[in-house]
This record gives sequence, structure tokens and C-alpha cells, in this order.
Amino acid sequence: MLHPEIARLVKEHYQTKLAHRAFVPGKDRVHYAGRVFDAEELLRLVESSLDFWLTEGRFAEEFSEKIADFLGREDVMLTNSGSSANLLAFAALCSKRLGARRLQTGDEVIAVAAGFPATVTPILQYGLVPVFVDVDLETCNIDIEMLKKAISPQTKCIFLAHTLGNPFDLDAVHALCEEHNLWLIEDNCDAFGSRYKEALTGTFGHLATISFYPAHHITTGEGGAVVTNDEELARIVRSLRDWGRDCYCNSGENNTCGKRFSQQFGSLPRGYDHKYVYSELGYNLKMTDMQAAIGSAQMDKLAHFILRRKENFLAWQRVFRKYEDFFIFEKPTPGSDPAWFAYVVTLSEKAPFTRDEFVHELNENLIETRYLFAGNMIRQPFFEGMSYRLADHLHNTDYIMNNTFFLGTYPGLTEEMLAWCEKIIDGFMQKRRKG
Ligand SMILES: Cc1ncc(COP(=O)(O)O)c(C=O)c1O
Repeated sequence: MLHPEIARLVKEHYQTKLAHRAFVPGKDRVHYAGRVFDAEELLRLVESSLDFWLTEGRFAEEFSEKIADFLGREDVMLTNSGSSANLLAFAALCSKRLGARRLQTGDEVIAVAAGFPATVTPILQYGLVPVFVDVDLETCNIDIEMLKKAISPQTKCIFLAHTLGNPFDLDAVHALCEEHNLWLIEDNCDAFGSRYKEALTGTFGHLATISFYPAHHITTGEGGAVVTNDEELARIVRSLRDWGRDCYCNSGENNTCGKRFSQQFGSLPRGYDHKYVYSELGYNLKMTDMQAAIGSAQMDKLAHFILRRKENFLAWQRVFRKYEDFFIFEKPTPGSDPAWFAYVVTLSEKAPFTRDEFVHELNENLIETRYLFAGNMIRQPFFEGMSYRLADHLHNTDYIMNNTFFLGTYPGLTEEMLAWCEKIIDGFMQKRRKG
């Protein structure tokens, strides 16, 4: 527990330096996302820093338990980012430990090109071939009919994000995985708290990932997690995250297996210290205990954050419904209840203005916007020279690249901010209608 005097000063600091200030329209930025916190996160962070344990310790244990309880998953491996979580989830499926079930160079992985690079880069980094399937314009998720046609004898895995919080059709994807014996990785980075037919996303795949970057549902600054119910996969992910080591003692523990100096590995001398036996080609992608301390405090706010994101989505919807003809509205995937990462705006062909003109007006008035990440990934400079296959066309992906942007739904968005945005949007529409 913190010394009462330190706690008092931390709370005072929060109130005077960091607490919410009144919003001044036209002077303050309407962010699309950001950290939402109070004195509790600061108190936990200071407490962990004064412990000076630094690496994963009691706060990491607490944080991962809260995530495991929320999702109802057995294993939660904290990481230093959502990208690292994706890399580890994918790398785990390439592990030799999986024998014939492992992913291998040249195998195909179903993906979409309208998304964030970190959902695709591990496929390329491990020498596998992404097979890009187009997306549906109303959900921004994979087109299931095209997905069915994309599966070939080389297909071994489906690796997809729930785009901007909207779950992809998990019934259909799950059924295809069963039918064709495919691995499923759910990139749940933008959808922590979304539901599909009552169940939380992140509980359907063999592995799922979360990001705690400030734009996401909860934050630790940088941070992420891999979750699974598969003991073997959990062990592989932990090993890959922790330098590839074979030993699974927690930080500060020794000889939990009771065989530290009595086993045979590779052609090492018998009894070589298990702490220094490496069975995977690993990384170091761990989280610190200070980050976990913040995350643990954030988990207590998650239910409220999810509610606020849904409310803000509805608030944007009320604004945009006035201009129905100009937009293709995003719809929750049937059967889903998204904890929206964002409010997606796609211009219809009838709009008498371009996406870039509209976005320019909003940004001029300090209203932040973002495009749907990489747009069409295969058109990005990093993609030049990469091996991939197209299932068919990417017409909708290109349409999104040219006509889509998103606004924030994060809990820091207030009624005053939304009223300012509505005023700017209404003004823009009036000018354009007259024009
Ligand atoms: C769908 C998706 N996956 C992965 C990531 C990567 O997460 P991080 O920024 O924590 O590396 C992001 C980033 O925001 C994302 O939107």
C-alpha cells in the first residue's frame, strides 16, 4: 500500500495537472482516441514504481487474472504491444512443437487488405502467403462468400481482425475452420468487449490478441496480450515471448519443475541448467510491471468504457442519419454487439463532395479523423515485392481506401464535443447542398 502522504500528493497532482478541463470549441482538439484515466491509474503506477520490481510481478499477475476472468480464458500472456501479440500468436503456430499441425513456409493464410499492417506482417515475416479476400462495405469485414472460394489445399490458417470493433461473421468463419481443419487467430485488438451471439470476441480463435495502445479500449501506454485456452499454445507463446526459453518459471522463481539440473536437451550436456535451455527461436516481448499496474486499474473501468463507446457510436449515427443519401452506414455484423473502436464513415457515390474534402473541413475545425488504417495494404510501399494471392478482386477494399474515414467513439468524447462536431458537419452539408 502507498504511504498516505504519497497517495494524497498523487491525487492532488491528478486534480491540478491532469483532470478533465472544460472543452473550448474551435480551440481544443476533438481527439479520435486517447487515454481515459483518473487518479487510480496514477496511484497504481506509483505503487508499482515504488515496489521497484520492474519486470512482470504482482501487478502483471493481477492484470492478467482480470483479463482471464473477463474473457473466461485460461491463459493470458502480456506483451509489449498488440503487434507483438500478433507476431507471437502467429509464430506459435509455426512452432516445431506442433509437428505436422505447424504452419510452414509457403502455406496460405486468409487475410484482408483493408486493415492494420500488424494483422498481416507476421504472415510475411514467417514466409507464408497471405490470400487477400475483399470486405463487405457495410461491416468492413471479410466477404464470406469470397472467403469460401479463396480456400485452397494450401490454406492452413485464417488470421483476421474484428474491423474497428465490429466482429466478423464468427459462425461462418468457425464453420470453415472446422470443415477445412484451419487454425484461427482473432486479432481482437480493436474489439476488446465486443460480443458475437452473447460470447465475447477473443474467445473463438485458437489464439486471440489484444492491444493496450492508447487508442484502444483500455491502455497501458504500449502493451498487448495473447489469450488462449490451449495449454500447449500458451506454453509456446510464453517461450517465444521470453527469449525462446524452455523453462517456464515466473520471474523471481527457480526450479518450479523440480528438474532444473537433471534433464537432457538437444546435444547439451545432461543436466544443463533448464533456465538457459532454448527450445524456440524467440524474442523478448514482455510487459513491465508498471504497465500492468496501469492496465489493472483500467480493467476496473472496462465495462463503463464499453458502454460509453456504444453511446458515442449512437450519437454519431444521429448526426449522420440526417444525410442518409451521402453515406453507406456501417452495420454491426448480424448477431453481434460491437464495443465500437470508431464510427466509420463511408461516402456513397451520391455524395456531392469527396472524402478528402470532408476530412479536410473536419480537421480544419480541430476534429480528428483517421482513414481505415492501411486502406488497401497491397498498395502500401512496404508491400512491393511481397508474395501474396488474391482470392478475387478487391473492389470494396479500394472503395474503402478512397471513400472511408473514421471518427472516435472513445469514452473521452463529451456531449459538448459532439455538439461542436454536429455544428461543423451540418454547416458543411448546407454549403455543399447549396453548391
Ligand atoms: C487491428 C489491429 N491489430 C494490431 C494493432 C497493433 O497494436 P499495437 O499498436 O499495440 O502494436 C493495431 C493497432 O492499433 C490494430 O488496430
